[in-house]
Amino acid sequence: MHDLLFRDAMLYDGTGAPPVRADVAIEGDRIVSVQAGGQGARKTIDGRGLALAPGFIDVHTHDDFAAVAYPDMAFKLAGGVTTSVVGNCGFGAAPYAAAAVMAKTLHPKLSLPEWQGYAGYLRRLEAHPPGVNIGLLVGHGTARLAAMRNENRAPTGAEMTAMKATLAEGLEAGALGLSSGLVYDPGRFAATDELVELCSLMRGTGALYATHMRDESTGLIDSVGEAIAIGVRAGVPVQISHHKASGRAAWGLVRESLKLIEAAQRRGLDVHADQYPYTAGSTILSAVYRDGKLRGAIGDLTGEDVVIASTESHPLWEGRSLAQLGREMGCSPEQAAERVLAADTGVTCVLHAMNEEDVRTVMRHPSTMIGSDGIPTLEGKPHPRLYGTFARVLGRYARDEKLFPMEEAVHRMTGFAAAKFGLRDRGVVREGAFADLVLFDPATIIDTGTFEDPKRTPAGIRAVYVNGEAAVDGGQVTGKRTGRVLRRA
Ligand code: ZN
Ligand code: CU
Repeated sequence: MHDLLFRDAMLYDGTGAPPVRADVAIEGDRIVSVQAGGQGARKTIDGRGLALAPGFIDVHTHDDFAAVAYPDMAFKLAGGVTTSVVGNCGFGAAPYAAAAVMAKTLHPKLSLPEWQGYAGYLRRLEAHPPGVNIGLLVGHGTARLAAMRNENRAPTGAEMTAMKATLAEGLEAGALGLSSGLVYDPGRFAATDELVELCSLMRGTGALYATHMRDESTGLIDSVGEAIAIGVRAGVPVQISHHKASGRAAWGLVRESLKLIEAAQRRGLDVHADQYPYTAGSTILSAVYRDGKLRGAIGDLTGEDVVIASTESHPLWEGRSLAQLGREMGCSPEQAAERVLAADTGVTCVLHAMNEEDVRTVMRHPSTMIGSDGIPTLEGKPHPRLYGTFARVLGRYARDEKLFPMEEAVHRMTGFAAAKFGLRDRGVVREGAFADLVLFDPATIIDTGTFEDPKRTPAGIRAVYVNGEAAVDGGQVTGKRTGRVLRRA
């Protein structure tokens, strides 16, 4: 007798194969049978008219601290996500003291328990499981901050040794790779050679290098070149994070950057990218406003383009652009940025800096998987990608705009992601795989959040199972927390 049977759903198995009508049976935490006409289960879910797919794997998140602070992870589960890869953009969960400094910029109010290293962080998650599975990347920026504070120079031998020790500790604990954030402090002070030297530690382990590149604006092509060079020289797979062309002067460059990725693949490099499906980005304001200017690696921005997302001390500023704030304060947008940062260092913002045609060009490309880059600051007006990314790709881009077939969209957020990040028995529906599953209505699935009202649950997601347990049932988050730590295979 099976524990659970999904009967008569259209199965999108995560491999990219066209859907088939199937019955999927679960026992414990595993899928035990996939066939038409399965029977005999303690509980049966009628899947007629619905789609059944592997749980979505969010390859680009900043959920490191949210997984500890908000372990029900309702904001992920309600959107069909069953696995978060944390530690992106150079921001990792260890060493603790440096991680805590960075945590403050996203979660100014949070007081976190302390842990020892990546192993300690993962043990903490195992003792207090979150609602979704967690795979992690070691953050280069955090390792650098711990080794040499915010210094704008090359590391000494001893500092390099300290960074390597952090990376080795993380890999030993089961990290999936190393991430960098080369626009942020202190990652931007690292030269290519430093990253090659660190990444070389991962050669032959299957761990990958994921990068928020140095310049996603007019320097995009050079930046992709640097990411590829690091992968080639260190001998490691590469993941280009949130691939985009940011700022008007850079629009259209993604056509060239994708060709660079293709050329590197032909030469044998394992290189891919991920993307969130919006024309606006989001980050910390301190990375956007620097040296008196709204510009830099993010591209030239106007005061209208930059909207405050969350600021603990002045919630009334949330949802207002720097241009609006400047008018209200009787100053320039730059001066408004200055005042906002003086009041509160942990300020996040939304940046309207991309072009829809580029978003589609990147999404259509077979090398692109899906990652939300959601910033889980649950106060204020976070970028709606935190909630809506996966439903938006399925509903808007696959179903409504027919950018690619639904099975391809599902593949980009499941089997493809699991293969790239080395997540064994995840991302596919087949006998023996873990029972991470999403049941959704392909006719109605859609994101519902807006920039004005972002914290809205997507429509059309009926049930979500994590390791065989119902995390969302009848569209409601159950509060069950059955996520696990996913270590490198
Ligand atoms: Zn980033
Ligand atoms: Cu990120």
